[in-house]
Amino acid sequence: MPKTHSVYFCSACGFESPRWLGRCPQCEAWNSFDERPFSRKTAAPRRTTTRGSLPTPLHEIDERRVERIPTGLHEYDAVLGGGVVPGSLTLLGGPPGAGKSTLALQIAAQLAQRGSVVYVCGEESAAQVKLRARRLRIEAGILVAAETNLRTVLEGLEPAPPLALIVDSIQTVWLPESESYAGSVAQVRDCTQALMEFAKRHHCATLVVGHVTKDGAIAGPRLLEHLVDTVLYFEGDANGEHRILRAYKNRFGSIDEICVFAMHDSGLREIENPSELFAGARAERPSGSTIVASILGSRPVLIEVQALVGETSFGTPRRLANNVDQQRLAMILAILERRAGMQLGTHDVYVSVAGGLRVSEPAADLGIALAVASSFRNRPIRADAAAFGELGLSGELRAVNAAARREAEARKLGYRTILSPERLSDLEAALRDAFA
Ligand code: TYD
Ligand code: MG
Repeated sequence: MPKTHSVYFCSACGFESPRWLGRCPQCEAWNSFDERPFSRKTAAPRRTTTRGSLPTPLHEIDERRVERIPTGLHEYDAVLGGGVVPGSLTLLGGPPGAGKSTLALQIAAQLAQRGSVVYVCGEESAAQVKLRARRLRIEAGILVAAETNLRTVLEGLEPAPPLALIVDSIQTVWLPESESYAGSVAQVRDCTQALMEFAKRHHCATLVVGHVTKDGAIAGPRLLEHLVDTVLYFEGDANGEHRILRAYKNRFGSIDEICVFAMHDSGLREIENPSELFAGARAERPSGSTIVASILGSRPVLIEVQALVGETSFGTPRRLANNVDQQRLAMILAILERRAGMQLGTHDVYVSVAGGLRVSEPAADLGIALAVASSFRNRPIRADAAAFGELGLSGELRAVNAAARREAEARKLGYRTILSPERLSDLEAALRDAFA
């Protein structure tokens, strides 16, 4: 007699567990668990592309298929590592209103010039997609599938697989063999796997749009990030004019690569030189502002770090880091206090990176320290200065990677005084030069 198993699942969010739980670890709902018999799904027939299941010698593997397809959006191509890889699965995440659907449609239009592109719209009706396309001045070439049953879509595409497939969004599509509703953990995972299998088998470049929860995780399982080849994520302010797209994971290129877009009434337009946007040369700099030559992905970008230091009116002093690592800031403040004699213990300190870009590399240490010092002393830093370098606990400046490229980028934008570990030995020397 076959043994029957049960699986428990949260009726609120679809979280599955092998045992009953009083409280769902995912959505934190109480008493939401239900039981259902465990059924082993009959998986879609898998076809292997190599001879039987025998391993292929590495030198015999045909790599011609991995020729990248340029999208015509140069910055986007650069984020991917040089264009779209056929057979790859890319996840495009971001908060609502970030421009995911807009970007997906623009990419679809570009790729449609090279082959067939299918756009699965689960979020909007076909008519809404049409309206958006008209706004983006996209004429023809895209095939729109207003179908949320992913099995039907994939089976329909089986006879003539497209060059690219776009699914907007993964939370709205579902597979009949997966027994939970669209958007649940199981569905999101199974749909992603089905798409991955389709993409790899037909060398179809697949782009999947995903929503994010408030805490920044891609809704549904974080697991999704492990399944896909590339994770692109819109960061920064969704209400502002500029959108930053960052590669968090990339099997075909480097991570942390960014691409900056401006949202216009006719869609997203790429900004070729982000340094000009984040740190345009100014004749005069207010106190508390420093230009930092940072490296994002593979390229140098100048950013502006701003600090505000004010006396604490009562209680514990506040430290607020926006787009900067809070722990790193605490360390820098301690160094300023001990090595430069600034009495910051009785002051509130706010530090922020202008433009919504997040900076986490230690090379920004010196810039942050100088911005805080400048605001504390209420004296602006030299208008032609740009800084980079890691701070050690004894106040020494440490060398960072790609120093020559950081310096070249700063000089290109007219910053002539470079405050860097190559020229200065410690924080004290940097403070002397910065205010000269
Ligand atoms: P959208 O791409 O729908 O965001 P998402 O799919 O990530 O939720 O649209 C983002 C915002 O951009 C939306 O508020 C409307 C605005 N927008 C423009 O400003 N110009 C345009 O051409 C388009 C299509 C949208
Ligand atoms: Mg959308």
